[in-house]
Amino acid sequence: MRVAVFSAKSYDRASLEEVNADARHDLRFFDAPLDASTAGLAEGADAACVFVHDRVDADVLERLAGLGVRLVAIRAAGFNNVDLTAAGTLGLTVARVPAYSPHAVAEHAVALMLALNRKIHRAYNRVREGNFALDGLLGFDFAGKTAGVVGTGKIGAVLVRILAGFGCRILAHDPYPSPELEALGVEYVAPDDLFARADVISLHAPLTPQTRHLIDERALGRMKQGVMLVNTSRGALIDTRAVIDALKSGRIGALALDVYEEEDDLFFRDLSEQIIQDDVFTRLLTFPNVLITGHQAYFTREALRGIAETTLANIDAFEQGQRSGNELTPERAPG
Ligand code: NAI
Repeated sequence: MRVAVFSAKSYDRASLEEVNADARHDLRFFDAPLDASTAGLAEGADAACVFVHDRVDADVLERLAGLGVRLVAIRAAGFNNVDLTAAGTLGLTVARVPAYSPHAVAEHAVALMLALNRKIHRAYNRVREGNFALDGLLGFDFAGKTAGVVGTGKIGAVLVRILAGFGCRILAHDPYPSPELEALGVEYVAPDDLFARADVISLHAPLTPQTRHLIDERALGRMKQGVMLVNTSRGALIDTRAVIDALKSGRIGALALDVYEEEDDLFFRDLSEQIIQDDVFTRLLTFPNVLITGHQAYFTREALRGIAETTLANIDAFEQGQRSGNELTPERAPG
């Protein structure tokens, strides 16, 4: 099939070309993200392959369908950027990569937690400047602390196991509690209970109307003074302005983000020569107890390979008139 691959970085290209080494599909790579102004690049393609910042709304889907595109292959698990209802109405199939490496994201969340706790980001700079003083670098033992995991699907479940290995007590919230995790000693509680009791809170729920701004002023008000908050799921789970107030008051003692509400205009590109216009984001950068990475939690060799394999398997299945099982139906649309 002819496939227009949008938001294609060098590493996307490399992993997709490796899995498509037999050239069974004609992959055309475009640096540009998909939106109404770039949809025309899909002219002549049967499928559009998209990533998390591509804007796949009703208007864009209509343009794609008008060009003859029949499949939207998402190179990600999250699909909050795709209007599934509009896709259904237009008769477009949408498929995603439901799982690639949950370890990649869970391990990155742990990397952020440990780096923040032991101030590795500050120690790195100090030591390079010949400053070996320890003042300001004091951390805590994870062993014996209470971790709150919001969303215990594939990624949350891996995180739970890692934190259990550290000797943490684990609280979780998920509309669908996992019996396997309960057997490990995880205690499922209501969100407010989790917020009130956890020393470290990590978010692993999808972005839906129910989870948007789950962490708002009210939720923050219930948390322990000095709590560590980690978000590697989707930026809009957090009300960033409320979080900035909580950092200023000391309610949040440490914040790690791999995702940000308004990341579409920032992440996945080099803006080092430009003036960042987002004042909320730049305020976050001023806190010594905030650590931000630019949506790199998924970025491991194993994950890229897994994404490429499933994406191409989804395209294979569609071409052969079969179902891969990774198709998203309009009923999955949040609402
Ligand atoms: P999953 O679908 O396996 O698990 C999500 C879990 O969240 C499910 O168990 C679900 O029941 C639960 N959930 C739904 N609504 C909830 C609510 N209101 N409160 C608490 N839990 C709720 O998804 P997976 O693979 O574990 O991924 C989780 C999220 O991580 C994805 O939705 C995606 O947004 C994000 N992600 C981030 C990446 C990154 O690079 N930073 C990479 C991959 C995923």
